Amino acid sequence: MKLFEKTYKLSYTRMGYLDRKYIVYKFLFIKITRRIKSNLISGGENNRFFVKAKDNTVKEITNLDTFAKMYPNLKIMFEGSNNKITLAEDLNIRTSKIFMRGHDSELCIEHSKELIQRSSFELLSNSKLYIDEDFLSNGIKIYVGENSQISLGKRCMCCHSIRIRSTDGHPVYSTETKEHLNVPKDVRIGNRVWFADNAVVLKGVTIKDDCVVALNSTVTKPIYESNCIIAGNPGKIVKRNIYWEP
Ligand SMILES: CC(C)(COP(=O)(O)OP(=O)(O)OC[C@H]1O[C@@H](n2cnc3c(N)ncnc32)[C@H](O)[C@@H]1OP(=O)(O)O)[C@@H](O)C(=O)NCCC(=O)NCCS
Repeated sequence: MKLFEKTYKLSYTRMGYLDRKYIVYKFLFIKITRRIKSNLISGGENNRFFVKAKDNTVKEITNLDTFAKMYPNLKIMFEGSNNKITLAEDLNIRTSKIFMRGHDSELCIEHSKELIQRSSFELLSNSKLYIDEDFLSNGIKIYVGENSQISLGKRCMCCHSIRIRSTDGHPVYSTETKEHLNVPKDVRIGNRVWFADNAVVLKGVTIKDDCVVALNSTVTKPIYESNCIIAGNPGKIVKRNIYWEP
């Protein structure tokens, strides 16, 4: 009897241990697969993904789940069709979102050694977003309006709560002529531009290489000068002949 009790107790404990282990694994498996699936929500058709390898060869990834697994902390959502996303293989992109809200748009983020986090990239129809190498972001919202483009040069650095947009989101008209006054306009950011906390860039802005956009500043007009500090609202050049280090 004692022997039976001992064997029963032993097998019970062993079973209990395995059961617990099985439940933990099952729970983790469900959590991980759910996470991967929910990272990619496609409402349109013919949306294509490309991955850029270190040697710059570009390969199309046809299995959407494979793409989602490569960037597990990136949420991608399509509402339209015929969009193209190209991401460098080595991107360390976390807690970020790409929303392709329209049709026929393109997004490309080049190789980066830096971290991109808490960022969102939203594109409407016929728009383009190009981000060059070594982009660093602690929180940017980029909003590319219809028929417009936004480009950022190499080694741009974004601190917290930066916003860049090529459209105002809602049209404004002249009461006299009915003319659309605030059409989307391209935004061009040069190389090594540092955006301090809460910097905002509006439609039609060009910022040249090696500039700093100061804290809480809103740039509304093109600044055709490199190596300067742009500050205030509206943003104006407050210092010239500067350079900065990350
Ligand atoms: C851009 C920055 C670094 C420039 O610093 P700086 O070279 O010491 O510049 P100064 O303080 O000498 O300012 C130069 C002029 O611009 C003005 N200015 C500076 N920052 C400004 C701002 N954010 N908004 C409006 N005006 C500003 C100053 O009042 C000064 O004006 P004056 O010449 O009439 O006196 C600094 O203004 C800034 O934005 N710091 C915050 C950085 C940040 O967000 N860091 C987070 C970690 S990434």
